[in-house]
Amino acid sequence: MKNLPLLFCGIFFALAFSFTGLVLSSNIQIGSLTQTTETEDENGNPMEGETLYPLMASGLAQQGKQVYIEMGCIYCHTQQVRRDGFGGDTGRNWGPRQTVARDYITQDRVLLGTMRTGPDLMHVGGRPLNADWHHLHLYNPQITSPGSNMAPFPFLYETRKIEGAPAANALKFPPNSEFSPEAGYEVVPTRRAEALVEYMLSLKLDYSLPEAQIVE
Ligand code: HEC
Repeated sequence: MKNLPLLFCGIFFALAFSFTGLVLSSNIQIGSLTQTTETEDENGNPMEGETLYPLMASGLAQQGKQVYIEMGCIYCHTQQVRRDGFGGDTGRNWGPRQTVARDYITQDRVLLGTMRTGPDLMHVGGRPLNADWHHLHLYNPQITSPGSNMAPFPFLYETRKIEGAPAANALKFPPNSEFSPEAGYEVVPTRRAEALVEYMLSLKLDYSLPEAQIVE
């Protein structure tokens, strides 16, 4: 084993080289990104008095994100819009522009995802789908999207007997739906379902960044 020192040097340099290449270079490129305005002044500083993007998610939306993680939505949905020429994401209306590293800096856990069994959700809150639609879809995707192969999440809802007047937040099933509860019963979202839908509605890519402008 007279080459032991050489072997150790080799291992050390292989590790040091990959650390520098992967970790340090990415940190230098994107590690110091901060929130900023849609355009910056000539010195690269945020414009005074304008809103800083990306926005922070509200408390309820953050709770909803936790539910999203627990339910495994990430196994079928991504949250990253590819640039034009690298797939048809903008053409599918998944977002008005590509996503960039800065879009994620206000998030503790970034849920980019890898599989697209369903559509990308980075801009789902910007689509014409309201809370009523999301609740019906989560309760059973077949109600809003017949033939969907998305899993239903009925356990995020409670079916209960109507006591007095129906609850204001009870699910609004289409007339004669085969999924409606029995007469005299209603389906109401649990707090987790309310949070999850709030999270869906908060996902919007409707702002520009200096490095990624929305082109009208
Ligand atoms: C087994 C894969 C799968 C899982 C798990 C899954 N989805 Fe889906 N999702 C789909 C498919 C496929 C579609 C497209 C058909 C449809 O609208 O149901 C879809 C559509 C959607 C849409 C409509 C998007 C649009 O633009 O029309 C939303 C919102 C959504 N899913 C949210 C969720 C959430 C939240 C979860 C976790 C609670 C989840 N999905 C889990 C497969 C999945």
